[in-house]
Amino acid sequence: MRVFYKISEFSAYLCEVAGRPIHFIPTMGALHRGHVSLIQTAVEAAHKDGGIVAASIFVNPKQFNDSKDFMNYPDQFSQDVEALTRACCDVLLKPSVEDVYPSEAPPSTEISLSRLGEVMEARHRPGHFEGVCAVVERLFRIVSPSYVYMGEKDFQQLAIIRKLVQDLDLSIEIIPCSTVRMDNGVAMSSRNLLLTDEDLETASALYGVLQWCKSQIRNQSIDHILHTAYRRLRENPKLKVEYIEIRNERSLATFSNTGIVSTPEMVDRARCFVAAYIREVRLIDNLKLTG
Ligand code: PAF
Repeated sequence: MRVFYKISEFSAYLCEVAGRPIHFIPTMGALHRGHVSLIQTAVEAAHKDGGIVAASIFVNPKQFNDSKDFMNYPDQFSQDVEALTRACCDVLLKPSVEDVYPSEAPPSTEISLSRLGEVMEARHRPGHFEGVCAVVERLFRIVSPSYVYMGEKDFQQLAIIRKLVQDLDLSIEIIPCSTVRMDNGVAMSSRNLLLTDEDLETASALYGVLQWCKSQIRNQSIDHILHTAYRRLRENPKLKVEYIEIRNERSLATFSNTGIVSTPEMVDRARCFVAAYIREVRLIDNLKLTG
């Protein structure tokens, strides 16, 4: 695998491989099995179309609304390089902050996120998605990918990046990939590295409650399900729940009819989203409730 630390050198490499489709996986490093599965999906596609698999590792300071979270973000670069090499990634870009955000760079395009930028993660992490959009726009312009692989664990981010691609009229296909889970159901996340084994057992309650919501979606009203789910999570003193919500996975709107899921729209699109802290580590997860 080729590793580039300078955007100019990476761009020169892209000129060498011009004409081949680029399959891109943007990351912040601390790679886990979820990232590896994104790379594997990209590698399979690249085998078919003769493309290049490119990853980036860049811990984007603009998307951290909490400076402690930024300082604590796990860093394991040499292990990441090994994992990417093993997964047959062709090229890695690991730029510096100054290179990604040079002082002379034009300001990033403002994307109108409407509801996508107001609810759940956007509400609890002010400025987060603006930071994500700033870096993703910059990375997309540097890498010029044909395909971008993103995990469904960050479902709202996925929806927002789709909107960004649409609004900026970029010819990029966003490929959503299923959440990879540990044996106890905990969604793979770089932040799991900050958790002890005991914390990870506590974290499994999040997936447990999502599954419970799924089991109830045709039996009880949404209000009732959410009320009970919240109470169950609150019973665990090690979990500090930020939100648990059921929304339309396309629009991220809540369902106006909070009765038992019954309309075709609800049956097709209901997804439950949860965010909680274990100590100072913030975890999110989501699950499609029907289908
Ligand atoms: O999901 C992530 O790791 C980041 O938000 C992303 C998309 C790489 C942007 O920094």
